[in-house]
Amino acid sequence: MKTFDLKSYLKKQRAIIDAALKKWLPMEDGPSKPVFDAMQYSLMAGGKRVRPIIFLAGAEAVGADMAGLLPFACAIECIHTYSLIHDDLPAMDNDDLRRGRPTCHKVFGEAVAILAGDGLLTYAFELMTNQALIGHISSESVLRAVSIISKAAGVFGMVGGQTADILMEGRDIDSKTLDFIHRHKTGALIQASVETGGFLGKGTQEEIRQLKRYGMALGLIFQIIDDILDVEGDKTLMGKPIGSDAKKKKATYPALFGVDEARHSVVFLLNNALSCLEAFDEKAEPLRAMAQYVVERDR
Ligand code: IPE
Ligand code: IPE
Ligand code: MG
Ligand code: MG
Ligand code: MG
Repeated sequence: MKTFDLKSYLKKQRAIIDAALKKWLPMEDGPSKPVFDAMQYSLMAGGKRVRPIIFLAGAEAVGADMAGLLPFACAIECIHTYSLIHDDLPAMDNDDLRRGRPTCHKVFGEAVAILAGDGLLTYAFELMTNQALIGHISSESVLRAVSIISKAAGVFGMVGGQTADILMEGRDIDSKTLDFIHRHKTGALIQASVETGGFLGKGTQEEIRQLKRYGMALGLIFQIIDDILDVEGDKTLMGKPIGSDAKKKKATYPALFGVDEARHSVVFLLNNALSCLEAFDEKAEPLRAMAQYVVERDR
């Protein structure tokens, strides 16, 4: 069997997503220009694009063509980028470096950074709903996809997780609360990305159910590795500060269990993620490779 070339796959998918983001990114001159500049600054700073990639890979796994789904991929990346801008604010994690650049609020000021986050979040919904308005995707499908994504991004997902993350700083927490934080602040949007890919790609109910399970395992792995990289990663490679979690006494896997135990959890979750893809054929190879990538990543 031919082995999957992850490196060239990532390069190709990132180029496709970056080109689509460039195409759809709004820009306007006039009094509101700074907010457009701030949105562009953070969005085009070169993130890994993991969420749009697994969204498209989810569609591919159920046999769909990704061409018509790029606006949704961009919308997901807009929501993710908004979450990073707000996560870095002084009132939240108070970080100075993101995607290898000074954080949005350091360059544009707090007010414009907050608004750029708001702008990216709401623009994501404009992008998604436009797909129904222009008739590219049925209204029914867009409605369902928007429902999945909004639930994952909002209080029942990422916003809820970020709230718990912030409020638990400096406090002793148990593994159940840590699990809640990670599943919500990071797992939910990653899960929704793969699920929506499978749904818009017209997968069967059973395929979508397995993609959801895969997505949650992947999301948890993603955040545990993020926690580990905050302890032993390389600031230049990551493009964000190291040691930020310890400084803020964050609830993380290494803080609660130590790095070795955290890595054990990752191995368990990786097997779990891969087992969800057992019934899929070679079209799910990108998803299998992405799980491996998320475990082995150094940025
Ligand atoms: C960082 O996400 C925030 C977390 C949920 C851990 P990424 O590691 O995907 O950041 P980018 O998009 O590559 O910058
Ligand atoms: C952030 O988690 C999760 C988000 C929803 C943005 P972190 O606070 O650990 O992300 P980084 O380490 O700043 O990227
Ligand atoms: Mg945070
Ligand atoms: Mg942070
Ligand atoms: Mg982190």
